[in-house]
Amino acid sequence: MATALSIVSPKRNKRLQTGWEGFFPYYAGFPELFVREILSSAELPSDAVVLDPWNGSGTTTYAASQLGLRSIGVDLNPVMIIVARARLLGPSEADHLRPLAATILSHARSAPPAHSPDDPLLGWFQPAAAILIRGIEQNIRRSLVGNMTKSPDGIHLDRISGTAATLYVALFAACRRLAAPFRSSNPTWVRLPKNLEDRVGPSAFSIAQHFADNVRGMAKALAEKHEVDLASGHEAHTATSSIVLSDTATMALEAGSVDFVLTSPPYCTRIDYTAATRIELAVLAPLLKVTARSLGKQMIGSIQVPSAEIEVASDWGDTCSRFLKALKAHPSKASGGYYYKTHLDYFDKISRSIKRVSQALKPSGTAVFVVQDSYYKEIHNDLPAIIAEISEYHGLSSTRMEQFHLRSMSDINPGRKSYQRPAGATESVLCFTK
Ligand SMILES: C[S@@+](CC[C@H](N)C(=O)[O-])C[C@H]1O[C@@H](n2cnc3c(N)ncnc32)[C@H](O)[C@@H]1O
Repeated sequence: MATALSIVSPKRNKRLQTGWEGFFPYYAGFPELFVREILSSAELPSDAVVLDPWNGSGTTTYAASQLGLRSIGVDLNPVMIIVARARLLGPSEADHLRPLAATILSHARSAPPAHSPDDPLLGWFQPAAAILIRGIEQNIRRSLVGNMTKSPDGIHLDRISGTAATLYVALFAACRRLAAPFRSSNPTWVRLPKNLEDRVGPSAFSIAQHFADNVRGMAKALAEKHEVDLASGHEAHTATSSIVLSDTATMALEAGSVDFVLTSPPYCTRIDYTAATRIELAVLAPLLKVTARSLGKQMIGSIQVPSAEIEVASDWGDTCSRFLKALKAHPSKASGGYYYKTHLDYFDKISRSIKRVSQALKPSGTAVFVVQDSYYKEIHNDLPAIIAEISEYHGLSSTRMEQFHLRSMSDINPGRKSYQRPAGATESVLCFTK
C-alpha cells in the first residue's frame, strides 16, 4: 500500500504560514499539504482511525478531520494540546470569537485578579501587566472551561472547548509579541530576562489591543479558510478528533484500534520542547498538574539527566548501539557523562513509545514516520535508520523510504563550525506495514 502513497516534501514552507496557521508558526510541524496528500492517497475506509502519537500543533488531526477521517492526536505538552484543539474549531464558530473576547477583556479590566508573587508570568512582565494577562486568562478559564473539563484531580486540558482553546492561542500569541525583546536567534525561543528591571511593562491598552487584534485576525482567517475549503472541496466533515494529553512511553491505546499512523517523532537534537513553549506554559500555569520542569524531564529529547540508570537495550538495534558507543568515547567534555545519559534517555523513551504505537496499529495497517538525522559533534546520528530498526523489532516492516535534504537549524549554530560534518540535514519519510 505504501507504494501508492503520495509523498511530498515534509519541510514546512514559511511562506505558507499565513492566515490561521500564522498564529502558531513557532511550533515544529510538517505542512498540511504533506499530511493531506498522504492521507488522501491512502484510500482509507470511511471508518478508519488515524493516529499521530506526537501530534504537536495538530497538523495530522486537522487534515484528517478535513478528509472526514476519525483521528487521535497525542502530545505531552499542554500547549500543543490547546493549539491542536484550536485548529479544529469549526468555521461556524468564527462569529462568536470577537464578542466573547470583548466580554472577557472587559471583565479582566474591571475586576483584575489579586497580585500573586508566584505567577510565572512575572518572569517576563512587570506586575501590572502580569495581572492583566492573568485576568484575561482567568476569564477565559471561568467562562469557557466548563464542568465537563473539570474533575477532582484537576482540569482535563484535552477536553477544553475549541473556542476556549482559540482564545488561549490568541493570548499566547499576544504574550509572545509583547515579550519580543527576549526572542533569541532561534525564533521559537523566548528567553527570560536576566534582571527583573529588564522585564517588559506594556500598558493595559497595548495588552488588550494585542489580544483583541489576534482574536479578530483569527476569526477572519477562519472565515477565509472556510471559503477556500469550500472552493477546493476540503470542507471540514464532522469526523471526531480526540486530542489526548499523554506520554507516549506509557500511554494506553487499545491494541489493534488504529488503521494509519502518521507522525514526526521528537528530534534527537537537544530540542527542549517545553522550553520553546515556556511563555505559553506560564499562561497556562493555573491549569497545569505538573511543573514546567518536571514536564521537561518527561519529554522525549529532554535535556535533563534522567533520575534512573538506563542500560542500552537490544530493541534499539545495531545502528543505535554503534552511535552510542562512539558518542560515549568522544574526547570532548561531558560526552561520556551528560550527553551519553541524555541520549540513553531519548532512545529508552522512543523505543518504549514505538512499541506502544505498533501495538495500537491494526494488522496490515500503515505507519509513516518523518524523521530527521543529525550530528553529535562529527558523529552521524542516523536517526531514520535507528527508528527503522526499533520499529522492525516491534513488529513493523519497512516498505518504503523517501529522503528530502534540508538546511537545518544547526547550520546557523556557530558551534557547528569546529566539527567536520556536512551542512543541513536529511528528512526521511519512513513507511511501514504491520
Ligand atoms: C516534532 S514534534 C511534532 C510536530 C507535529 N508533526 C506538527 O505538525 O506540529 C514532536 C512532538 O512530540 C511531543 N512529545 C515529546 N515527548 C513526548 C512524550 N513523551 N509523549 C507525547 N508527546 C511528546 C512534543 O511536545 C512535540 O510536540
